[in-house]
Amino acid sequence: MTANARELADGFDIENLTPQFYADPYPTYRALRQHAPVKRLRNGLYFLTRYDDLVAAYKTTKVFSSDKKKEFLPKYGDSPLYEHHTTSLVFNDPPAHTRVRRLIMGALSPRAIAEMEPNLIALVDRLLDRLAAKGQGGMQVDLIDDFAAAIPIEVIGNLLDVPEAERGPLRNWSLAILGALEPVISAQAFTRGNNAVTEFLEYLKALVARRRARPGNPERDVLTRLIQGEDNGERLTEKELLHNCIFLLNAGHETTTNLIGNGLVALSEQPSQKQRLIEHPELIRTAVEEILRFESSNQLGNRMTTEAVELGGVMLASGTPVTLCIGAANRDPAQFTDPENLDVGRTPNRHLAFATGAHQCAGMVLARLEGAIAISRYLARFPDYALNGAPLRGGRARFRGFLSVPCAV
Ligand code: HEM
Repeated sequence: MTANARELADGFDIENLTPQFYADPYPTYRALRQHAPVKRLRNGLYFLTRYDDLVAAYKTTKVFSSDKKKEFLPKYGDSPLYEHHTTSLVFNDPPAHTRVRRLIMGALSPRAIAEMEPNLIALVDRLLDRLAAKGQGGMQVDLIDDFAAAIPIEVIGNLLDVPEAERGPLRNWSLAILGALEPVISAQAFTRGNNAVTEFLEYLKALVARRRARPGNPERDVLTRLIQGEDNGERLTEKELLHNCIFLLNAGHETTTNLIGNGLVALSEQPSQKQRLIEHPELIRTAVEEILRFESSNQLGNRMTTEAVELGGVMLASGTPVTLCIGAANRDPAQFTDPENLDVGRTPNRHLAFATGAHQCAGMVLARLEGAIAISRYLARFPDYALNGAPLRGGRARFRGFLSVPCAV
C-alpha cells in the first residue's frame, strides 16, 4: 500500500490523467496528501491537497491572487473565452472583484432566496410526477437529464427571469464554457467554448436591451438589479454586466446538478446511509453538507502567488501557479474523522466545497436549498430507487459529476 501510494504521488501528472483517476481520484489524493502535499508538477504548477494549506491560500487573497489575465493568455489567446473568464468576478482581485461581488451578493440575498422555496418545491414535485409517469410507462429514467440538471436550469433561469422558451441552449453553453477550464483542452473544446461565449453574449445583449426597456422587480429579478446597480451610484459596465451574467448562469448549473446527482448516486451505493436519511428526514441539512464534502462538485481551484511565500514547508516564488484540490482537502484526516466514509449526520463539517475567504461561493445558500429540496423529496417519493445500469461520469477533473445515471424508480 505504501509503495503504491508513493508511486501514485510521484507519477501524478495533471496533464495526463488516467481513466482510473477520473473514475476514482481519491486514492491519488490520499497518496498526494501523505507523500507530496505541496507537489511541484512538470509544468511548474504546485498542487495542494492538505486542508490547512488550502485554507491558508484561500484566506490570503493578497498573496494568492485570483486574477487570471496572465495565466489564461497562453491558453486562450485573444479570444471570447479569454475576455469572458478574465472579466468574471471569480477570476479577479479587489477592487474589481469587490465591486462586482457587492452587487451580486445584494441580488442573491437570503430573503430573495427564501422566497424562491415554494416555487422550487413545486418544480421538484412536477419533475417527480414526470419521473413516476415515465417509470410506470416502462421508460428508462435518467437521474441527470430528467431530474438533477432540470432543477438548476429553471432556478437560475427564474433568477434572471430568462423567458422559459429561451432556456434551451443555456445548459450546453454552460458545459462548453466551463469545460474550457479543464487543465488540458482539445482544439474542439476550445472552439466549442468560444462559440458558446459568442452565442451567449449575443443572446444576453438582446435580453438586457429588452430588460432595460421594460425593467422587472429589482427585489426578485437579479438581471434588473444588476442593470440598475446600487443606490450609491455603483454600476457595472456593459462588458462586466454581460460576462458576469454568463458567469452566474454557468456557476449555478453544473455544480448544483452534480450536487444532486452525486448525492443520489452516493446514497444508492451506501444503503445504510440512505435508509438512515429516509428514517430521519431532519438530517437532510447535514446530509447535503456531507455530499458536498464527500463528492465535491467543484474539485479544483486556482491561484497565482504575487510574492514569495512559504506554504506547508515549501517556498513558492512570486508568480507561481497553484491548484487547490478541494476534493483532497475535504477528505483530509487531519480535519475530518473517518473522512473516506459518507456520514449523513456528520457534525462539525467545515468542508471547502464552496471554498472560503473573499471568493467563497456567492450562491451557496441557493445551492444548499436546491440540494436539500431535490434530494429529500426524491427520497420521500422513491425510497426504493436503484441504479439501473452503469452511471456515466462526466470525465472532468474540475467538475465532478455524471452525464447520465440510468435509474429505476
Ligand atoms: C453545489 C453547488 C455549488 C458549488 C459546489 C459551488 C462552488 C463554488 C466555489 C468553490 C467557488 C469559489 C471559486 C474560487 O474562488 O476559486 C464559487 C464561487 C462562486 N459561485 Fe458557486 N458553487 C455552487 C453553486 C452556485 C450557485 C447556485 C451560484 C449562483 C446562483 C453560484 C455563484 C457563484 C459565484 C458568483 C461565485 C464567485 C464568487 C467570488 O468570486 O466572489 N455558485 N462557487
